[in-house]
Amino acid sequence: ATAEQLQFIKESIRAIPDYPKEGVLFRDITTLLDNPQAYRMTIDLLVEHFENKGITKVVGTEARGFLFGAPVALRLGVGFVPVRKKGKLPCETLSETYDLEYGTDTLEMHKDSIKEGDHVLVVDDLLATGGTVNATIRLIRRLGGSVHEAAFIIGLPDLGGAARLEAEGVHSFCLLEYA
Ligand code: PRP
Ligand code: ADE
Repeated sequence: ATAEQLQFIKESIRAIPDYPKEGVLFRDITTLLDNPQAYRMTIDLLVEHFENKGITKVVGTEARGFLFGAPVALRLGVGFVPVRKKGKLPCETLSETYDLEYGTDTLEMHKDSIKEGDHVLVVDDLLATGGTVNATIRLIRRLGGSVHEAAFIIGLPDLGGAARLEAEGVHSFCLLEYA
């Protein structure tokens, strides 16, 4: 990726102060999605980085991870697997509970979505504490899949997500960072 490409994508993302609560600067990717040049470039750069690496599945986390994971899966020519919040998937599921700033949440994945030996790329829009992706990695590994990399549009390095994933043996690739 060139510095110009990354700057163009960065300028398409809007920042909303004090959402969802005071003190949080929310990185709003709806303006990126509504800019077809920026959206296409984002997907192109992720595909460029992850093609020819032997990936057999892309897993995306509800909801914003779907918007980037599904187009990347299509372009890599592999299946897309959704990780959803509790109670939304119709077939047999595995669940993992993870910590939020206040309380906990539960993610689920279909048991038959990953096979032993799958080489999985996890995609989400943003890496903050890493709690969401960490729970997702646990689900994939319980099903016999291997996970070595996770891709994000945005990384917030101050929140420690990359270090947490590294401790799990997963390398994070963030197109953009906001310190
Ligand atoms: C946001 C974001 C990531 C996660 C990052 O999702 O899309 O999935 O938080 O935070 P973490 O690294 O601290 O886990 P959110 O749970 O707000 O759900 P949404 O995508 O459905 O809006
Ligand atoms: N998820 C966690 N922190 C976030 C932030 N600052 N902006 C958008 N989504 C987030």
